[in-house]
Amino acid sequence: NADPRLVQVMPSLVRHLHAFACEVNLTVAEWMAAVEFINECGKMSDDRRNETQLLCDIVGLESLVDEITSKMLATSHSETPSAILGPFYRHDAPLLPNGSSIVRNLSPSVSWYEQAVADSAFVTGRVLSSSGAPIKGAIVDAWHSAPNGLYEQQDESQPDMNFRGRFETDEEGRYAFYALRPVPYPIPDDGPAGKLLTLLDRHPYRPGHIHFIVSAPGYRALTTQLYDDRDEYIAKDAVFAVKDDLVVKFSPREGDPQARWSLEYDFILGRG
Ligand code: DHB
Ligand code: FE
Repeated sequence: NADPRLVQVMPSLVRHLHAFACEVNLTVAEWMAAVEFINECGKMSDDRRNETQLLCDIVGLESLVDEITSKMLATSHSETPSAILGPFYRHDAPLLPNGSSIVRNLSPSVSWYEQAVADSAFVTGRVLSSSGAPIKGAIVDAWHSAPNGLYEQQDESQPDMNFRGRFETDEEGRYAFYALRPVPYPIPDDGPAGKLLTLLDRHPYRPGHIHFIVSAPGYRALTTQLYDDRDEYIAKDAVFAVKDDLVVKFSPREGDPQARWSLEYDFILGRG
């Protein structure tokens, strides 16, 4: 009574692994180096760092399975495309009123203060069903890195839950918050995955992005990212997660001391 999915998946995996070894004439020494490499990834991983996931990401596997999964589950063509979760999500980001900021205690003493001011942004939009009806009571969970490229849990100089917040949509399906235009930054590259990138002459950068999980009762939760079109890494993301429909344009914002830029983006959820 083996698991039917396992019985389907394993022969295919074994076939492709064998075909790969034959195609490249894999030697014992090379195979052992690969085993050691995967062991190193495992040893380095804990709840703050998932090196094995990072390894999958730099060969495009997380993006590929995300694409396969979302195609399988999609119920309409108009749904907002998904993107990978990435390793820095935290549950229980504070639920904040619409119109408030996910920038916590921005102090003029941090080295990236000037950039945070120059990149201050108002982000708003609606959460809609695929027929265009507004979804009231949807939760928009957003997070991004600081201008130094570090997420709050990677950086002791940032307050807890900095650049993270959840917002509940109103009657018109609208959410709104203050954040920053995101900047490009390297994925953690001080471990085996980073070493592999170097050996391949590849850079570790991701284009600036804001992460989102948008959820509502009766709808399939959407995990996605929005990419700033000013970013030079849009076309060369180290983890291959960019999709055209997720590239956005920030516009200059007039008359708002809290933000130099604004972004409007509607999320379209599928039934689920
Ligand atoms: C990865 C994804 C991210 O969103 C990020 O900020 C860092 C790394 C990744 O896929 O490994
Ligand atoms: Fe990220």
